[in-house]
Amino acid sequence: MNAKMKIALVTGANKGIGFETAKQMAQLGCFVYLASRDRAKGLDAVNRLKGLGISNIELIEMDVTDIHSIKKAKQELESRIEALDVLINNAGIAGELPQNLSTGEVKNLRKVFETNFFGAVQTTQEFIPLLKKSNQPRIVNVSSELGSLTVHSSTQNPNYGIYAAYGCSKTALNAFTVMLANEFRNTNFKINSVTPGYTATDLNQHRECKQQRRVQRPLSEEQL
Ligand SMILES: NC(=O)c1ccc[n+]([C@@H]2O[C@H](COP(=O)([O-])OP(=O)(O)OC[C@H]3O[C@@H](n4cnc5c(N)ncnc54)[C@H](OP(=O)(O)O)[C@@H]3O)[C@@H](O)[C@H]2O)c1
Repeated sequence: MNAKMKIALVTGANKGIGFETAKQMAQLGCFVYLASRDRAKGLDAVNRLKGLGISNIELIEMDVTDIHSIKKAKQELESRIEALDVLINNAGIAGELPQNLSTGEVKNLRKVFETNFFGAVQTTQEFIPLLKKSNQPRIVNVSSELGSLTVHSSTQNPNYGIYAAYGCSKTALNAFTVMLANEFRNTNFKINSVTPGYTATDLNQHRECKQQRRVQRPLSEEQL
């Protein structure tokens, strides 16, 4: 690893948006720890990237719902690196349908929150000490338009009420982002939520998007 390389950790990166994020960050010159809860799937992902000539990437096994697994991953990283520059909390699940909140089972709601909200919170908490050792620590929480209360208040939204559990978990994730950024406002941390916009992945069974892709508001210089 080149000493000047930024070091990034991407959760849930064995496939989908996390995989692409890991790939593009490595191509941009970061050293990327590709986190996967399944060792075999993670190794396969790393090998696919190595097959593309990307060598600045390594696997780290981590299930974001399992605090022991996160602590183990943290210990492993601490033995390999002095500081972590970027944490991308990407791991996420859509949850089972239907997700109507008046009758849906609370255990399904909890399951979605365990990954999308508590998973990101506990991963962040564990890696903050390593991030604090960076000159420019960055935390990026991968959220969704469905976390927007404005979107969910609109009957024009084609997913109106369908992904209620998923939406609640992403709204909570956005709140976590804002509260945490507030806590770190006088430090060198930058903490943001992003939405990739609708992307056909396993999460949505690669369905076509029902709504027109909106132009995403890019992050300002200040946020980056
Ligand atoms: N696709 C979209 O349109 C869209 C839109 C907005 C936001 N997002 C967000 O983007 C992120 C990535 O989604 P995606 O579309 O790329 O979905 P995906 O293809 O299903 O990938 C999800 C990734 O998260 C991992 N994961 C799930 N639970 C985990 C856990 N407990 N611990 C560690 N990893 C876990 C999965 O691992 P396994 O392979 O082991 O299951 C997989 O690597 C999610 O946060 C999602 O909410 C997606």
